Amino acid sequence: MNTKLSPSVFAANLATLADDLKILEENNVELLHVDVMDGHFVERMAFGADHIAMLKKMTSMPLDVHLMIERPENHIEAIAAAGADIITIHVESTTRLYSCLQKIRKLGKKCGVVLSPGTPAEAISCVAHLVDMVLIMTVNPGEGGQHFLPDMTDKIMKVRSIVGPSVDVEVDGGIDAGNIAQCHRAGANVFVSGGYLFKGDKAANIRAMREAIA
Ligand code: DX5
Ligand code: ZN
Repeated sequence: MNTKLSPSVFAANLATLADDLKILEENNVELLHVDVMDGHFVERMAFGADHIAMLKKMTSMPLDVHLMIERPENHIEAIAAAGADIITIHVESTTRLYSCLQKIRKLGKKCGVVLSPGTPAEAISCVAHLVDMVLIMTVNPGEGGQHFLPDMTDKIMKVRSIVGPSVDVEVDGGIDAGNIAQCHRAGANVFVSGGYLFKGDKAANIRAMREAIA
């Protein structure tokens, strides 16, 4: 499967965002990861539909929108209308997971499910045929700059064996040039990176991540 980088805009310096997005585009980054946080499902708040609409105008990179919100079913339409290309929903965040995924597909967007570290791989088994992507959190959701949880590697392998080769398996949290290869070997092919990728020379960090999985 094609490998893809999805830099997390949550870690970007908003004062230099336009220039940073240009660097990501020049380096052929495949996706832009946008974290939506509501202050309930996770403590922090970040990026709503208006910000997604703004990002959509600023970049041609497809927007990979990670919803960390309660009752995602109430916000899917607004997030899709704002310009999300992929919308991922935490299995822990709703009792209506199946219908959320149907709704996203009906709106013509790609959909995915997200697993927090305490949720087993098997939680996706009844929706695996509906999704374009499974996102495995490799830190507890809600904060950037945390340490990668190495025991999530086993879950990556399990998820890959459930979904087969044609579904994207994304990892998010503490990913850097040092641990990306072990996630790739376990079966992940989409890599979110915030704190590592946006610190210092972004182009060099992107190159280092790509070289580690080449
Ligand atoms: C964490 C977010 C991540 C975060 C990744 O809850 O979902 O997308 O921005 O940042 P790093 O790579 O710094 O862990
Ligand atoms: Zn995220």
